[in-house]
Amino acid sequence: MHKSFFIKTYGCQMNNYDSEKINDLLVLNGFEKTDDIENTDIAILNTCHIRERASEKLYSDLGRLSIYKKNREKLGKKLSIVVMGCVAQAEGEEIINRNNSVDYVVGPQNIQVIPTLLKKKDFGKVHIDFLSEEKFKSLTFSQSNKISRLITVQEGCDKFCSFCVVPYTRGAEFSRPLEDIYAEINDAVEKGCAEVTLLGQNVSSYESSIYEGKEKKVELGNLCNTIAKIPNLKRIRYLTSHPNDINNNLIDEHANNKKMMPFLHLPIQSGSDKILKVMNRKHTKREYIELTKKIKLAVPQMAFSSDFIVGYPGETEEDFENTVSLVNEVKFASSYSFAYSPRPGTPASIQIDFNSEEVKKKRLNYLQKILNIHQNNFNKELLDKEVEVLITDFGKKEDQYVGRTPHLQPVHVFSSKNLIGRILNIKIERLTSFSFHGKILN
Ligand code: SAH
Ligand code: SF4
Ligand code: F3S
Repeated sequence: MHKSFFIKTYGCQMNNYDSEKINDLLVLNGFEKTDDIENTDIAILNTCHIRERASEKLYSDLGRLSIYKKNREKLGKKLSIVVMGCVAQAEGEEIINRNNSVDYVVGPQNIQVIPTLLKKKDFGKVHIDFLSEEKFKSLTFSQSNKISRLITVQEGCDKFCSFCVVPYTRGAEFSRPLEDIYAEINDAVEKGCAEVTLLGQNVSSYESSIYEGKEKKVELGNLCNTIAKIPNLKRIRYLTSHPNDINNNLIDEHANNKKMMPFLHLPIQSGSDKILKVMNRKHTKREYIELTKKIKLAVPQMAFSSDFIVGYPGETEEDFENTVSLVNEVKFASSYSFAYSPRPGTPASIQIDFNSEEVKKKRLNYLQKILNIHQNNFNKELLDKEVEVLITDFGKKEDQYVGRTPHLQPVHVFSSKNLIGRILNIKIERLTSFSFHGKILN
């Protein structure tokens, strides 16, 4: 009998990619995937440490899992619990001290050890070294035939924003070699993929060294240019960029390469220069706005999304108003916004001028209201227009399909023919909250 495994993924797309890779590695090693958490031989929790609430989810899930484990033991069965991801990296052995039903703790750069861990006894319980190169070398191509795929090209972060755990949980920046990325994407496209999202904590600082057979600096723009040559790859996206790393190489690629989608997720966090400085973001509000204008000049269809943190220590009402005025000036197509959450080990967490939870909540609600207004205005512009939609999935209703516009807006259509993987011209007829309904034109 094959041993079964269950994976739960928290956090960002990088974790989704890692979970997919673990899934592939385990299947290749003779394990069998299950969605039944109560009756699995192995439970893998791929965790996120970014905010307190994200981290705490792990411990509430572990509480439940340890009950399942005891229930299984009564029946003479085992349940191995593996905690992987960013909480694993940050807390290491502490996780086992806090909940002794956990068998293994595996950091994001060690996921390649999981099949061995589960097969061999005494392979060690805690694996949290930074082994990015080994990790990517030991991963296999996915069997997935998804239309839109996430492909990690860069991992780790050297920026050390004062509030953020990522440089500690993912380690130093590491970029995968261009040829490995090309091979993985080429394989994905052969299996039906039409769109890739290149992932990195700082994907815009991607850098490797061999290009067209020669020793030469390769940047994100070159990487996009190279993979665009794969004929059946239709759309290229990337995530997440830092404003300081967006260079002309990348902007030119957007301007000249039709496969580059005109949508840029460009976190700013705050619109106050004082707060940006203490956050160690290393740019001003004006510089950010100028950058968005420069990009729009080169790529007029470009739309932006962003991340915001409200209530950072020392943020005053005036600082917050600067964030609001930035939002009203740039008019983001969509955004993510969060209340500041102090994270252990980060410089911001030892600052004492905290904002109360009440203030954070009030500012977050207000900001989200304004972000929604802009998102709605952006979306409304699409009504009655024709737009190219890549159909990626089946909808919830019969004969319904879902796809995305170049600006990542979801669109639903009906058809009796299978549309998966096709790019269609669709006339947008209706908008319900954040998703569209349309009619196929071609
Ligand atoms: N690499 C990306 C994002 C990483 S984390 C970047 O440079 O922006 C994703 C988002 O989580 C961040 O953009 C930030 O808005 C939010 N975030 C990170 N740490 C946080 C904290 N301590 N409290 C609240 N939000 C946080
Ligand atoms: Fe975190 Fe800043 Fe690095 Fe983004 S750039 S991952 S916010 S440290
Ligand atoms: Fe969370 Fe780690 Fe991603 S902390 S946001 S899973 S890099």
